[in-house]
Amino acid sequence: MRIGVLCSGGDAPGMNACVRGVVRSALAAGHEVIGVLRGYTGLLNESFYINLEQKPLMTLRSVGNIVNLGGTILHSSRCKEFATEEGLKKASGILRKHKIDALLPIGGNGTLRGASELAKYWSGQIVGCPGTIDNDLLGTDYTIGFATAVHTAVECVDKLRDTAQSHDRMFLVEVMGRHSGYIALYTALAAGAEIACIPEVTVDIKEIVENVQKLKARGKQSIILVVAEGDELGGAEILNKDMVEAGCPFPTRVVNLGHLQRGGSPAPADRILGATLGEFAVRSILAGKTHVMAGAIDKKLTLTPLEETFSAHKPVPEELLDLLQTLAS
Ligand code: F6P
Repeated sequence: MRIGVLCSGGDAPGMNACVRGVVRSALAAGHEVIGVLRGYTGLLNESFYINLEQKPLMTLRSVGNIVNLGGTILHSSRCKEFATEEGLKKASGILRKHKIDALLPIGGNGTLRGASELAKYWSGQIVGCPGTIDNDLLGTDYTIGFATAVHTAVECVDKLRDTAQSHDRMFLVEVMGRHSGYIALYTALAAGAEIACIPEVTVDIKEIVENVQKLKARGKQSIILVVAEGDELGGAEILNKDMVEAGCPFPTRVVNLGHLQRGGSPAPADRILGATLGEFAVRSILAGKTHVMAGAIDKKLTLTPLEETFSAHKPVPEELLDLLQTLAS
């Protein structure tokens, strides 16, 4: 069997471990792997990973010494053409032309949505892996890249706390997550932030400012507010303006961590998750499964129909919201 593997959408630390898991387990079982470069864009351009023998096939050596690398050796992209009927038909023709029997896309909701659409035009097997820092996919407790992104954000917030405390300031730190508050909530909890503004919870500026005033009256010398980029108020800059107007008692500064969160050597948790799901996805393909995403829920490996992974919002854990409230008050 010939398996095509690609990374698509925002890159995520741990994608390389996943690619390695896919390649090594497929080769061990006697199958072939084609590495598609630059996600669906590369598929439409017939752009494949070329090995040392100048063949478009991945070998054991192709994935040597990559688990520690951030980004993805296969490169990634966001592909508008793949969202069109012509693009999908073209892709299915290319998959047939190169005799690819199964496609293994690693990515977030856009990637899995694209894979699910492709199934309307292509009869090969599709088993995806959840690779996104956002942790916004259903069908898995954690996505590949989330742990590292949180780790990076926490390191940054720790540093910001130092300077905030020295200058008696409040920092509004914007983190990624698109429409999800996962990165913001986990970062806020791990870094001991006082406030998290996330899309899942309605933000009341007056209430936040009153809370900050109370904290200052109690002797707090610095405040960290972590805001998710998808927050309903529109991010840290706007929130800052509103807070200042509402009488925030601290001088404020705004920091947007942005794409920093996507880079860096993957945390062990992401390497292990990537390797585990990569191997499981291959095993699932060999067992005849299709149109599903490989995930891990309560430490059990699971397969979830592609549409179910992206068609509803993944709620953040209520107990962690309560914990943040308790610890910060
Ligand atoms: O999906 C991952 C993510 O990093 C989101 O958190 C963010 O909204 C988006 O990608 C940024 O995308 P781009 O790299 O295209 O600017």
